[in-house]
Amino acid sequence: MEIEASFWLLEALRSIYFFLLLAIITFFLLSLAIYSLRLKLWCNCEICNAYLTLSWTNQFNNLCDWYAHLLKNSATKTIHIHVLGNTITANPENVEYMLKTRFDNYPKGKPFSTILGDFLGRGIFNVDGDLWRFQRKMASLELDRFSIRAYAFEIVCYEIKDRLIPLLSSVSGKGDGVLDLQDVFRRFSFDSICRFSFGLDPRCLEITLPMSDFAVAFDLASKLSAERAMTVSPLVWKIKRKLNLGTEKKMKEAIKLINILAQEVIRQKRKMGFLSHKDLLSRFMHSVNDDTFLRDIVISFLLAGRDTVASALTSFFWLLAKYPQVGSAILEEADRVLGPNQELTSYEQLRDLHYLQAVVYESMRLYPPIQFDSKFCEEDDILPDGTLVKKGTRVTYHSYAMGRIEELWGPDCLEFKPERWLRDDDGTFFPENPFKYPVFQAGLRVCLGKEMALLELKCVAISLLRRFQIQLVPSYHTPRFSPGLTATFSGGLPVLVREKEPTVHQSS
Ligand code: HEM
Repeated sequence: MEIEASFWLLEALRSIYFFLLLAIITFFLLSLAIYSLRLKLWCNCEICNAYLTLSWTNQFNNLCDWYAHLLKNSATKTIHIHVLGNTITANPENVEYMLKTRFDNYPKGKPFSTILGDFLGRGIFNVDGDLWRFQRKMASLELDRFSIRAYAFEIVCYEIKDRLIPLLSSVSGKGDGVLDLQDVFRRFSFDSICRFSFGLDPRCLEITLPMSDFAVAFDLASKLSAERAMTVSPLVWKIKRKLNLGTEKKMKEAIKLINILAQEVIRQKRKMGFLSHKDLLSRFMHSVNDDTFLRDIVISFLLAGRDTVASALTSFFWLLAKYPQVGSAILEEADRVLGPNQELTSYEQLRDLHYLQAVVYESMRLYPPIQFDSKFCEEDDILPDGTLVKKGTRVTYHSYAMGRIEELWGPDCLEFKPERWLRDDDGTFFPENPFKYPVFQAGLRVCLGKEMALLELKCVAISLLRRFQIQLVPSYHTPRFSPGLTATFSGGLPVLVREKEPTVHQSS
């Protein structure tokens, strides 16, 4: 009797399960159809056709190169990908309009905050309105303080001297001696930003130690979040999340681990007392009590400050390996300003290295770590170049393409020429209009970590160029980028590292 009852119960459960599955699939297909209609998946214009059939790959290695080509040839420097509901612009007037003049009409928007919500929560990167304003104000107060730059300088110098240099020395001239510089820079920037944000040292750069669980989970969550943005319809990942399947299951596990580790950091910090600590988390803890919110704040800072810096360093050293005369000019300036082979001793010294600053800006002009950035239009609008933008559609400014436009940078725009950033008369650095160079974004949401990023790039550049000869492995070609939130060289940056002979300076 009992067996029979269990049998019927099992059968009933099975039927309910199949019914539910069928309902979900029908709902999914219907929604997909409605979504496709809304997004004009049928559009047969030349650009959409090339996008859908992937025929652009016959001519270009990277999607960003194809977009750069289209934008360069557009009269207004604005194009539409109808099937994605995306208006892409490389026109500085449009960029200024969306990031400053009509800032309120171009928020991050709900579609992105939903995609990144599980990972970033209510962190600064992922919110608009009052939640954003509050974090922006608090973070600016902290990051604009002079003392925090000295603190960042201390962290970065330690990481370079005690970890980065010993690591490169350990592989110098060895057998195959090939090192993936991109991986090394990712470890370097994760350690630096964790110490800066949490006061915690994950020791990722100690190659003998496994990559920390935190970094691995963090990587996975950020990769899977970027993949969500690439699915045909948000319904795909939303249903997978509901059913806890595949990548969404992995995402849930990664976020669970991130949450446990972040909560542990907050707990420890509270136990130790945070009043006298200089890191960003301690500073935020003075005014925020909600642990989940604290976790979100810190995770956004990690994301902002980690992959961007690693990406900028990777393309910087790739370009220097191709243009060794630029590396020599950096060292010549450093010897002149700091003294022959003298180490950097303070943050202030960096200000006098104008040529180095020009090289850093020039390398990010051609290879911006964030190649493009999108907002969502709140109300129908017309951009300064006359482009009509419909409510609810996406508008993207494309920094990568902007660095390749002749009208903006002259006929030599594709050349790596740091001198373009220096004044003819006295050789000092001059900044460009930020809407023409939105590498750190511009306007009201301009990057808050720009000074910290420049500091990291310059310190690493001088320290490594002084000590090492870094060459590309002979088989290395022009980089291909992996899809993701930040520009990443697919396959890394394999280099050969050789320690230089110490220079002996004769006193006369
Ligand atoms: C070369 C390195 C870097 C580049 C190219 C860069 C670029 C950018 C860009 C383009 C944005 C706008 C992103 C968006 O709104 O979707 C941004 C925002 C931001 N960045 Fe950076 N960043 C860099 C390094 C850093 C570092 C080291 C930190 C932290 C110390 C940082 C903190 C932030 C924060 C907090 C925001 C959000 C600002 C807001 O929404 O008001 N960034 N950054």
